[in-house]
Amino acid sequence: MIRLESLTKRYGDLRAVDDLTLEVPAGELVVLIGPSGCGKTTTLEMVNRLVEPTSGHIFLEGKDVTRVNVSTLRRRIGYVIQQSGLFPHMTIADNVATVPRLLRWEKQRTVERVNELLALVGLDSATHATRYPRELSGGQQQRVGVARALAADPPVMLMDEPFGATDPITREHLQDEFIRIQSELRKTIVFVTHDIDEAIKMGDRIAILGEGSYIAQYDTPEHILSAPANEFVEGFLGEGLLLKRLQLARVRDIETFDDWPKLRLDDEPAVVQETLRHISREWVLVLDEQARPRRWARTSALREGTDRLSNPGEPIQTVLQDEFSLQQALQEMLISTSGGAVVVDADGRYRGVVYIETLNRAVRSMRADAEDQLVEVDRAAGNGGARR
Ligand SMILES: Nc1ncnc2c1ncn2[C@@H]1O[C@H](COP(=O)(O)OP(=O)(O)O)[C@@H](O)[C@H]1O
Ligand SMILES: [Mg+2]
Repeated sequence: MIRLESLTKRYGDLRAVDDLTLEVPAGELVVLIGPSGCGKTTTLEMVNRLVEPTSGHIFLEGKDVTRVNVSTLRRRIGYVIQQSGLFPHMTIADNVATVPRLLRWEKQRTVERVNELLALVGLDSATHATRYPRELSGGQQQRVGVARALAADPPVMLMDEPFGATDPITREHLQDEFIRIQSELRKTIVFVTHDIDEAIKMGDRIAILGEGSYIAQYDTPEHILSAPANEFVEGFLGEGLLLKRLQLARVRDIETFDDWPKLRLDDEPAVVQETLRHISREWVLVLDEQARPRRWARTSALREGTDRLSNPGEPIQTVLQDEFSLQQALQEMLISTSGGAVVVDADGRYRGVVYIETLNRAVRSMRADAEDQLVEVDRAAGNGGARR
């Protein structure tokens, strides 16, 4: 856990950071977002002691950072600076190895760590390790910056607009990859951005900052979106609040999926016939041996023996992964002709079915005050007559 207490930094008359109190829970990613010059970078620099506070305290796991040795402190903190900050005259491998070298790791251990980290951030070390930063794209340089910060496996990461210098598509890739990495590593992270969509996507919590790092609101993305504290926050959230909520909520957050009659390829023939006896629906879902949806089958044809489970049959149009956002889910369902979709988990296993009405209900329960936007969803729901 990181705790900032009445943290203040003055440059002459200017209060770059003015009385900031904030707690970052262990293992969470907290986003600082605010206008340029509001003191975000200065705050990170104080945590890392690149800049000494004028007053106030910073506690890292209960210890006052001004009382610990600076190099001991920095060993526990990975720092990704704005614009990647790679050393231009050093190869990618040497850049990533900076901290391990300072820590005098053995050569073999360092080499292995560098390769492991490059792989982790999605770079092939055979092609990239011996190159120089200028030979890499902006997005690749940002990845190297993240790898370098992770090198000594610090429990804390400070990330200052780490994906700032990249185009929107690369940026999304980097975000998705970092979310995956963080879900495994569970670092305590302070992440600075000026992009609200990035904040909503990445943050377990978001601190929306005004001038002097005054906290306008500090809460989960869900709460900020459904109850912005004031006009300043609303201004930050900008247009399309409903859309942002749809992007945030996941299919797996839907309270209950519906079920559908199903058979597995490895079901014994007797079991198949017994199951079919109890199915009143025209269609049954066929799952493979790993419970992954494979196709639809007509119950009558299976009963009469004119179809067999192993036949190719009727493909499943719309399959939703449970980590899809509601926005993705709606999009998928709007382009399909059936009003329902099959939901699967990350391994592709069957979890249930949802109908467009289910999504519509989920959207409504998100306390959407943007009524006019909801009409769109309603209309789509009316059109989607369930074929099955
Ligand atoms: N070394 C410095 N000397 C004087 N003023 C500074 C210095 N560093 C930052 N500032 C000022 O402090 C304020 C906060 O800067 P910064 O933390 O970089 O903001 P942000 O990262 O939110 O854009 C700005 O007004 C900036 O000009
Ligand atoms: Mg900055």
